Amino acid sequence: MTANPFRFAACIVLLLPSLVVSLPKSAIAQNATTPVAQLPADPVGEAFVAKLLRQMTLEEKIGQMSQTPLNQASEIPPDVLAREGKVGSFLFVTDPVTINHLQHVAVEQSRLHIPLLFGFDVIHGFRTLYPVPIAMAASWDPRLAEKAQSMAAREASAAGIDWAFAPMVDIARDPRWGRIMEGAGEDPFLGSKMAAAQVRGFQGDTIGSPGHILACVKHFAGYGAALGGRDYEESNISDDQLWNVYFPPFHAALNAGAGSLMSAYMDLNDVPATGNRFLLHDVLRDDWHFQGFVVSDWESVMNLTTHGFASGPADAAARAVNAGVDMEMTSTTFRDTLAQSVKRGTVQQATIDQAVHDLLMMKWRLGLFRNPYADPAKAASQMVTPEQRNAAREAGTRVAVLLRNQDATLPLNSALKSIALIGPLADSKADIMGSWSLAGHPEDSVTVLEGMRKRFGAEKIHYTTGVEIEREQPSIFDAQFSSPKPKLTTEAEKAAEFHHALDLIRSSDVAVLVLGELQSMSGERASRQSLDLPGKQEQLLEAAVATGKPVVLVLVNARPLNITWASEHVPAILEAWYPGTEGGDAIAQVLAGDVNPGGKLPVTWPRSVGQVPIYYAHNLTQLANDPSSHYWDGPSTPLYPFGYGLSYTQFSMTNLQLASDAVHAGSTVNVSVEVRNTGARLGDDVVQLYTHQRAGSASRPVRELKGFRRISLKAGEKQTVTLTLDTHDLGFWSPATHHWAMEPGVFDLWVGDDSNAQNHATLTLLP
Ligand code: NOJ
Repeated sequence: MTANPFRFAACIVLLLPSLVVSLPKSAIAQNATTPVAQLPADPVGEAFVAKLLRQMTLEEKIGQMSQTPLNQASEIPPDVLAREGKVGSFLFVTDPVTINHLQHVAVEQSRLHIPLLFGFDVIHGFRTLYPVPIAMAASWDPRLAEKAQSMAAREASAAGIDWAFAPMVDIARDPRWGRIMEGAGEDPFLGSKMAAAQVRGFQGDTIGSPGHILACVKHFAGYGAALGGRDYEESNISDDQLWNVYFPPFHAALNAGAGSLMSAYMDLNDVPATGNRFLLHDVLRDDWHFQGFVVSDWESVMNLTTHGFASGPADAAARAVNAGVDMEMTSTTFRDTLAQSVKRGTVQQATIDQAVHDLLMMKWRLGLFRNPYADPAKAASQMVTPEQRNAAREAGTRVAVLLRNQDATLPLNSALKSIALIGPLADSKADIMGSWSLAGHPEDSVTVLEGMRKRFGAEKIHYTTGVEIEREQPSIFDAQFSSPKPKLTTEAEKAAEFHHALDLIRSSDVAVLVLGELQSMSGERASRQSLDLPGKQEQLLEAAVATGKPVVLVLVNARPLNITWASEHVPAILEAWYPGTEGGDAIAQVLAGDVNPGGKLPVTWPRSVGQVPIYYAHNLTQLANDPSSHYWDGPSTPLYPFGYGLSYTQFSMTNLQLASDAVHAGSTVNVSVEVRNTGARLGDDVVQLYTHQRAGSASRPVRELKGFRRISLKAGEKQTVTLTLDTHDLGFWSPATHHWAMEPGVFDLWVGDDSNAQNHATLTLLP
C-alpha cells in the first residue's frame, strides 16, 4: 500500500473533538440504516389477498409457508402436496412440463386454487451460463451484470421458473471460502452496485415484468465471514462491520426492489441467522421496512436444533417464524408443528397471517393468479439462442483480468505457427461453466480447445491435458452436475502424459496452460485449506517454463490461488474465471487480441494462504508502514491489489480536479481526472475513486472505494472522466454513537486504476 500521509492525523481527533458533530437528519439520505424503496401500492391485490386469507384454514396458510425440493424423494408425493394445499413453492424442478403439471394440479384441483411458486438457483444463467458472479464483479460493469441476469431470467421464465435464489451479495474476504465465487468479492461499494444491477436484471422494471423473475437476495447476513473460510461455520462480526461492510449490498439490493430474501445458515454472533430476530425483524422490517418475504436456506429451520439453539422441531419452527422467516425451505417443521404452536400460543395467528399475506402478495405481483403457466412447446426454442450465446461471449471477454504481461507476450501473434494448449481445464465442457450450473448442458459449452481451434486454425493447436485433477472428497452436487473423471490411473501413465505435454511445448512456438480448479472445487461446501493449484499443476507450470518457451497461464477458477511463483516466472497470466457456456470463444478472443482485457480484481490477491484474510479497506495501525510489524517471514503486501488489472495498452491518469475542495454534507462533488490511452490499441480502463476520513468518532479504513467507471479509449485518445462523489457515501455507522454519521472534517481522495491509486487531493466536509 502507499505511504501513510495521516500518521499525525490520528491525533487530530483528540485535539479537535469538536469536529465530531452530528449532522441534521435531513443531511442523511439513503444509507444502510434508512428504509428501502417501497413496492408500488396495489389496492386491488391487497383486497384479493385479504379475501383469500379469510377463506384459508390454518393448515392451508402453513402450506403456503412450505417449500419442497423435487430433487429428492418427498414423504408426500408432490401432486398430493399441491392438491391438498400443503405446499406453496417447489424448488429444483426445471422441466416446464413437470412445472406445468404441478401448477395445473395446484390451480385446478386445490380447494382455493392458489398457484405455486417455482424457485431455482439461477445464479449465473439458466441453460446458457454466464461468467460466475465474482467474474461479473471483475468486469466493474454493473450494466453487464444487469444484462446477464435479465438474459438468464428470460430463459428461466420460459421454463416456468418464477424465482431466482440470487443475487448472493455476501461480502467475502477469505478465498478459502468456496462461495467467494458466488458474490462480488470483498468490497461493499462494488458489491452494492453489482447487487442492485442484478436485481434490476432479474426483475425488470417491476416485479411481474414479462420475461423476468423474482430476485432473492441472500444469505442474510454475514455468511461470507465464516470462521477460517469453512463453509457454514459461525461468523463473529461487530455491529460496525455489519452496518458498514456486510449489510450495504443487502440494503442496495432491497432498495433496487428485490422482493424476497434468504436467511443464512450460520450463527451470527451466536444466534443462528434463521432464528435471528435482530436480522429478520429489527433490521429488515423495522429499519428497512422490507415488504417482500423471507425464505430460510435449505433445512436451516430444522438446523436451529443442530446449532444447539432450538430444543426440537416445534421450537425451531416457532423461533424461525417469530424471528421473521415466512417460508421454510426443505425441512418440514412448519408443516409438522406450526398449527399446534398457534393453538398453544407460542406463535401468534397474526404472525402467520402476516407471513401468508406477504407471500400471496408476491404471487399476485408476479402475475401468478392471472397466468401461472409456462409454455412448454415454446420453452425449448428460447434456450441457448444465438442472442444468449453472443451475450455470454461478450460477458466472458469483459470479465477477463490480465495479471501479468511481460514483453507483450499477449496478445498471441497471428504469425505464430504452433501453439501448445495444455491443461486439465482446456477441454472440459462442464468446468468452463462453473459451479451452480445445474440447468446447463455441458454439451452446449465451447471449451478453450474448441475456441482456440476456431480462432487460430485447428492445425496450429497441439493439445493435451498434461495432468489431471480431482477433488479429494466428492462434491454434494456430483450426482446432478459433475466434472469429467480422470482417465489416467497408473503412475507410469501419468508420467508419460506429463512428458508428452512438455514435448508438445518444446515443439511449439508458445505454450498456453489452462490451469485452475474444477467447477466442483469452488462454490458451496468447496472450502480449502490451501490456495495452491490442485494436483500437479504447479509442477507442470514450472516444467513448462523450464523448457524456455514463452508460457501463458490462463486461470479457470473463482478464487485467488497461490500463483506467487508464476507472478515472477510466467510471462503472461490471464484470470479468465469460469466464463460460462461461451467461455472458450471468449478466452480465444482475448488471447488473440480481438478483445483487449479490461477487467479488474474485485478481491485482494494474497501471496500465500497465511496472509488471509487480507483486504484493502483495513484500518490504519501503529507502524502501518513498518514491514516488521506484520510478518517477519514474508511481505505484508498482497500479490495484486484490489482493483488491479492490466491491458494490452497503457493508460495514464493525471490532473485530478475537484469541483470544490470544501462541500456541505448532503451535497455532491464532481471529481475529474484526465485519462489517456498512451499505448497503441483500443482498450478499457476503470477509473476508481477512493476516500479516507482523517479523523472522527471511529477509525475508518485506510481507503474505501466510493466511485468507479469503466471506460474505453482508442489509441492516443484522452478523456476527462468525471465521477460524482455523493457525500452521503462518506457517512458510516459509528460504533461511538450507534447511528449513521457523516462527520465534518478532512477527507483524502485518490483516483487511479487500482486501490493503490496515486492521484491525491483533499476534500473538506462542512457541516
Ligand atoms: C443452499 C444454498 O446455501 C442456497 O444458496 C441455495 O439457494 C439453496 N441451497 C437452494 O439450492
